Amino acid sequence: MNSLTHAETPGLSLQGAALDSRAWELCVAPMIDVTDRHCRYFHRLLAPQARLYTEMITTGALLHGNVPRHLDFHVSEHPVALQLGGSEPLDLAKAAKLGEQWGYDEINLNCGCPSERVQKGAFGACLMAEPGLVADCIKAMQDAVSVPVTVKHRLGLDYDDSYSFVRDFVGRIHETGCRVFIVHARNAVLKGLSPKDNREIPPLRYDMAARLAVDFSDSVFVLNGGLASIGQCEEALETFHGVMLGRAAWHTPDILADLSVRLGHVEQRVNDHTVLEAMMEYAAEQVQAGVALRHVIKSMLGWQTGRPGARRWRRMLSDPKALAENKPELLAQAWAQLG
Ligand SMILES: Cc1cc2nc3c(=O)[nH]c(=O)nc-3n(C[C@H](O)[C@H](O)[C@H](O)COP(=O)(O)O)c2cc1C
Repeated sequence: MNSLTHAETPGLSLQGAALDSRAWELCVAPMIDVTDRHCRYFHRLLAPQARLYTEMITTGALLHGNVPRHLDFHVSEHPVALQLGGSEPLDLAKAAKLGEQWGYDEINLNCGCPSERVQKGAFGACLMAEPGLVADCIKAMQDAVSVPVTVKHRLGLDYDDSYSFVRDFVGRIHETGCRVFIVHARNAVLKGLSPKDNREIPPLRYDMAARLAVDFSDSVFVLNGGLASIGQCEEALETFHGVMLGRAAWHTPDILADLSVRLGHVEQRVNDHTVLEAMMEYAAEQVQAGVALRHVIKSMLGWQTGRPGARRWRRMLSDPKALAENKPELLAQAWAQLG
């Protein structure tokens, strides 16, 4: 990471409204099959001010599917952003409007997912090749809602590592008035790499993301990709307005609690027992409402990583037999296994 210092960015504005750049200081990444509402409820307990993102929801799923199933969330999740996948301006506008009506605080467009399924739908990362279309999509969404419309993107496509590609992409979106960019700081390789490899093999280039933050100094830039320690996040925050954690929040969720203290979001780290009790209460409500326990607690498996007994904790919470009983007390029983 170079040591460019990010501007204080006074007077940031979005669609004419003042934009609080600190609102993006700590974000939890959208992750399909991970950051569902139960996971976000848990993350909120750990990090009272983190900005939480939904899994990507496609416009097709939203406009033709079960809207409450896709959009319902708990009031404690605020601030919470809805991430959309799509490339049809009208559909995106309708989906964004639904999201705003449902109470989401931000609508984010996915321009970073490289999966084949997403490419077939002509959205996700392949949209980076069509900045004009992305600008039309953003404009249509901005016209439909008054909450911030933001973009999550990569640095480039395939093996093109020129800075001008991403600068021009961001520049075109910037013309629409969009002022929040979440940069997964590596390329997406559209052919030949799986989504998992696409999160590991293309090299991270934080310096290039930092150039964007300098060149578009009236905008909020959030760095994403490979951030897994407090030190890395603190260093990134010297350059960027925010950090977004994906796999670290999933594998070691406690980092959210530690960061919340370090960033001054809370005075004291939340007590583990408070979190455990809150999750047991929440699990009881959810189970009563017909949700399977395994869905409610799956984001907690990595919570006690590093502590003696963590393996037993994980094993108990993923034991199919125990989960089938659907009893929230399983959390307390697993807790008793910890040293
Ligand atoms: C299981 C999984 C699912 C993901 N799903 C999405 C998604 O729905 N939308 C998106 O923009 N990125 C998605 N990503 C990418 C993450 O948001 C993030 O950009 C990536 O994991 C890099 O950040 P990290 O190194 O902190 O994990 C996903 C990542 C993982 C591991």
